[in-house]
Amino acid sequence: MDTSDWFRQRFDPHQCPVLNHTHILDPQALRWWLGLQHNTDKQTLEEVMSQLFQVIPPPSLDLQPLPSRCRSCAVVGNSGNLRHSGHGKMIDSHTSVIRMNKAVTSGFEEDVGNRTTHHFLYPESAVDIVDGASLVLLPFKVKDLQWLTSALSTGHITMTYMRVKERIKADLEKVLVVNPEFFKYCHEHWTEGHGRYPSTGLVALIYALHTCDQLSLFGYGADQNGNWDHYWEENPYPGAFRKTGVHNADYETQIIHRLAQEHKITLRT
Ligand code: C5P
Repeated sequence: MDTSDWFRQRFDPHQCPVLNHTHILDPQALRWWLGLQHNTDKQTLEEVMSQLFQVIPPPSLDLQPLPSRCRSCAVVGNSGNLRHSGHGKMIDSHTSVIRMNKAVTSGFEEDVGNRTTHHFLYPESAVDIVDGASLVLLPFKVKDLQWLTSALSTGHITMTYMRVKERIKADLEKVLVVNPEFFKYCHEHWTEGHGRYPSTGLVALIYALHTCDQLSLFGYGADQNGNWDHYWEENPYPGAFRKTGVHNADYETQIIHRLAQEHKITLRT
């Protein structure tokens, strides 16, 4: 398949999606990342990472796609457009199934399936992880890494900017942390500075582009009023992100459509 200039200019195969214990963040990336949300902590990132990697093992996964082993991946956003989609079986048929934030499957199997291999979240969106799946933390601040250490061990962190889940059920051997440098790469190369930072869904999609061979995207897309509604709820305040302008939903949608046009992903909405 031909790769366009558009794709080549954005996709950097040398980016490392996952943080490991030896990683020293590039100072520019660190500055960008520390500016995302309010940071109050006195501990250095090195100290925080060192404590985290005493609780979880460094990633040993081979994240690069292997030509000999075709890995298909379903990335499942939380859009209300999954309701009555009947996509459940198709989603579950992929090798990997990535879900995110408060995604639920119970009671929605017909439309969203029930397998999960990776669950992207951050402290304020955390849920327990189903057996066998990887928790993938998308960190926005130093406290998020401290929270992960705590939530998997002592449970002493109960607040970030809001009350958060004290403990989380997850397989320690499978916990992964998105590399803040990769997050910045998503912001600069893909959303190109539109919005304050990319959405969880956009980061999960680019993560999958880097780690899977064949990618299908489900559950992305705003409702008819342009709000990011969820398939499992009557949405009381679904437009929160759009109103605050933290993410640029329209620009992210353009990227998704372009990737589909270029056959880098299959869009199932
Ligand atoms: O709402 P939440 O952030 O949990 O949803 C996960 C991701 O799914 C979002 O970050 C966004 O990329 C995508 N989404 C979407 N359209 C919606 C709801 C969510 O594209 N209506």
